[in-house]
Amino acid sequence: MTDTQERYVCGLDVGTTKVCAVVGRVDVADALAITGVGLVPSRGMERGVVVDRQMAIECIREAIRKAQGDTGLRIVSVYVGVTGAHISSVNVRGRAYITGAQVTAADVEQAVASAQDSVPLTTDRRIIHSVVRDFAVDGERGIRRPLGMVGRQLDVNLHVVTGRGSIVDNVLKCVEEAGVQPREQVLEPQATAVAVLTDAEQRLGCVLVDIGGGTTDVSVFADGSICLTSAIAVAGNHVTMDLAKVLRVAPEEAERVKREYGHAIAEEVPEDEEVEVTVVGTDAKELVPRRLIAEILQARMEEIFAGVAERLTAERLWSLAPAGVVISGGGASLPGAARLATMALRGLPARLGSPRDLAGEMALVELPMFATGVGLARIAAVDEAWCTKRGGGSVAQKTTAATRGALARVREKVLEAWHRFRAQRQ
Ligand SMILES: Nc1ncnc2c1ncn2[C@@H]1O[C@H](COP(=O)(O)OP(=O)(O)OP(=O)(O)O)[C@@H](O)[C@H]1O
Ligand SMILES: [Mg+2]
Repeated sequence: MTDTQERYVCGLDVGTTKVCAVVGRVDVADALAITGVGLVPSRGMERGVVVDRQMAIECIREAIRKAQGDTGLRIVSVYVGVTGAHISSVNVRGRAYITGAQVTAADVEQAVASAQDSVPLTTDRRIIHSVVRDFAVDGERGIRRPLGMVGRQLDVNLHVVTGRGSIVDNVLKCVEEAGVQPREQVLEPQATAVAVLTDAEQRLGCVLVDIGGGTTDVSVFADGSICLTSAIAVAGNHVTMDLAKVLRVAPEEAERVKREYGHAIAEEVPEDEEVEVTVVGTDAKELVPRRLIAEILQARMEEIFAGVAERLTAERLWSLAPAGVVISGGGASLPGAARLATMALRGLPARLGSPRDLAGEMALVELPMFATGVGLARIAAVDEAWCTKRGGGSVAQKTTAATRGALARVREKVLEAWHRFRAQRQ
């Protein structure tokens, strides 16, 4: 394979604490090998919302530059993650009457459109994306690929995610102004799921909790597809700020203490251990019991999981998660977080979700905080959305309908293709 035939994809996770660009090469066997990561502390973004455009643009530019490294590649387009507390979801049904002898793509489109039409939207709230959960042909449910099937009536069960259009547009505009085309927007939990969940977990039913810096995304997967998307405006940064306030230390110092000595379950920390911290505004050091630190962290982590429990209760989804809970995002790296999740979530088994099935420079991205970026790159790979230029010529730029117009596009094909890809590799 020559250089110009190499196929690269790029996922861009514009988070509250970090902007992260993940570049991967899709090789002959269609496996994604991670070749570069650009990680920059986030400035100008909070909980999925642009609060300082110029800073956000600079961070994105820097992350892309770092991800390119000195390889000579030029990234020209990215798959961007979309999240925030403004996101909500609803499951709706739609119907089309099959016009010919068998189901055609137009019938599917019509059924999906009729389901989308039933979603209540206000001026600034629009459909960010829709995922087909299943189809029914003449009442026979559980059909994944209805094309070519014989029948008279096609019903679709659709998971529709809505959000504030202006918030999403502002993120996309920053990406554009940073010099890359935001080729497609993907709901972040969907990307995270592609990176960390197994097929079996998605089929059996599981809860995915992405504890980021500003938001905790909660999503539920059942029968192989997503059925709840929700975001809680409490996450890792709140945990850090609690520590900073109680210990009277700078946020940066609280972050260090959390990462080096933190634990989510206080009683698992020995009573006699002490940690030295620097008091804010001074050089003075103080000794603080490590168990006290864990108590502060535990209280906020419990609030986060209580928020998850509340969503599951409100949507009556407890029974849909026999495969348990997978926690991901940087906040999940706190030791004991998975066990605390089990304690707070009615004893559901919980595990840490780090990016799986990685090839290439795995060590670069094997932490849970990279799950969204890796998932975005994988979805771009399935979409064959090659992102690079080498030298002057553009490499295989696929001409799909442009960015914003594609917001409501049905992403079923992405997930299907991903499942197929995984199945082939097993
Ligand atoms: N080892 C660790 N122990 C505890 N917390 C950690 C650790 N590593 C990272 N974190 C926390 O993870 C959070 C950042 O997670 P992540 O990188 O997933 O967020 P983000 O994607 O930038 O934010 P968001 O998804 O909310 O926009 C921070 O609050 C940070 O303190
Ligand atoms: Mg995130």
